[in-house]
Amino acid sequence: MRVIVKPSRKISGIVEVPGDKSISHRLAMLGAIATGQTIIRRFSTSSDCLSTVSCLRQLGIQIEFSGSDSLTILGQGLRGLKSVNQPLDAGNSGTTMRLLSGILGGQNFSTTLTGDNSLNKRPMNRIIEPLSQMGVLIQPNKNFTAPLKIEGGTLQPIDYLIPVASAQVKSSILLAGLYAQGMTQVQEIMSTRNHTEIALQQFGVKLEFSGKTIKILGGQQPKGLEISVPRDISSAAFFVAATLLLPNSEILIEQVSLNPGRRAILDVLIEMGASIEILQQKELFGELIGDLRVHSSTLKGGSLTGSLIPKIIDEVPILAILATQTHKGITIRDAGELRVKESDRIQTLVQNLRIMGAKIEEYSDGMFIPGQQILKGGTVHSHGDHRISMAFAIAGLIALGPTYIKNGDCTEVSFPGFFSLLEKLCTS
Ligand code: S3P
Repeated sequence: MRVIVKPSRKISGIVEVPGDKSISHRLAMLGAIATGQTIIRRFSTSSDCLSTVSCLRQLGIQIEFSGSDSLTILGQGLRGLKSVNQPLDAGNSGTTMRLLSGILGGQNFSTTLTGDNSLNKRPMNRIIEPLSQMGVLIQPNKNFTAPLKIEGGTLQPIDYLIPVASAQVKSSILLAGLYAQGMTQVQEIMSTRNHTEIALQQFGVKLEFSGKTIKILGGQQPKGLEISVPRDISSAAFFVAATLLLPNSEILIEQVSLNPGRRAILDVLIEMGASIEILQQKELFGELIGDLRVHSSTLKGGSLTGSLIPKIIDEVPILAILATQTHKGITIRDAGELRVKESDRIQTLVQNLRIMGAKIEEYSDGMFIPGQQILKGGTVHSHGDHRISMAFAIAGLIALGPTYIKNGDCTEVSFPGFFSLLEKLCTS
């Protein structure tokens, strides 16, 4: 569906963004292989997380929703999943496919995991390689893409240096590690979000940490629990950006995730001059959370590279929009991973920003977006990528004319109700 965004004068109010998508996936999967009941409050009802729920249900797990976003899961233990005849559909969700592969690798049956056109083009070799070393038999489609036929079995522990900075790969190995006969060890080249480590520990699984190395002893049985999910900082980032860009604006976002692998977007913006206050910091089931009060601001711009990139990888689309309004522009390098996200995000950002009349330089691993630019509106394409759609919705608020986003409603992938919330809080 095509979505129209009109220029806006200001944004204000309390912003209730959904529960964190990354954390919700992990809690649902661990709930399924835990013993006893797990209750998850503020579970993300994004279509990505619903893909995880639907796969788990097909694997024989009883999952009930109550209210708008509470989930009750009847865990069946590490080896309680049931085999299923038809392929499991992970939809658009890389996290569902890569993390579930780790769990399916430990089962004594084979399963096929597939996804939509975008997911079935994304690289899966990064999980096929370590899981195969552990003894999982994985038959991919051509070029190591999904559909993946995963034949689980008895797993051996590995000592693995992950060659890409990817929390999904780390998590897939740690989950398979639960099924291995001995101590599995993973080492990251750069730190990534540690939601899986935190969630495993909440479910009673012991881990050992030293530097960037994590160890997990196989055979530990997760135990069900009652838990709440922080709000999603990657979803909040779009409203933070709208507030910074529109004059006389102020918003409050409560109980948002401040996980060290995720909050870097706030640190980057504050460093550039953004008025963002972080209040009421505390821990919620092992995860750091806090409230954000944001005011309109002018931003300096700067250069974003190296080990910072994995921590802001999902926020690059909105940073590219913000960059056009900074004093000196923003350079992003070392971010080749953007090319294998839900779309080739370097290409989709470059194409769409040019359609809106902006100048932008494309590099193989990033881009330079000059500052002080005028966006003129126009017809852009989300390419089915939720974060591209939301980024250009925010661009549309500061454009001279209306912005039409083709296939704009793919925002449901991470943020159900995004456009109605934006409309409610904006003054035209
Ligand atoms: C995610 C990790 C990141 C991120 C994705 C969610 C996760 O992907 O981009 O949106 O939940 O672990 P990679 O692990 O591929 O970097």
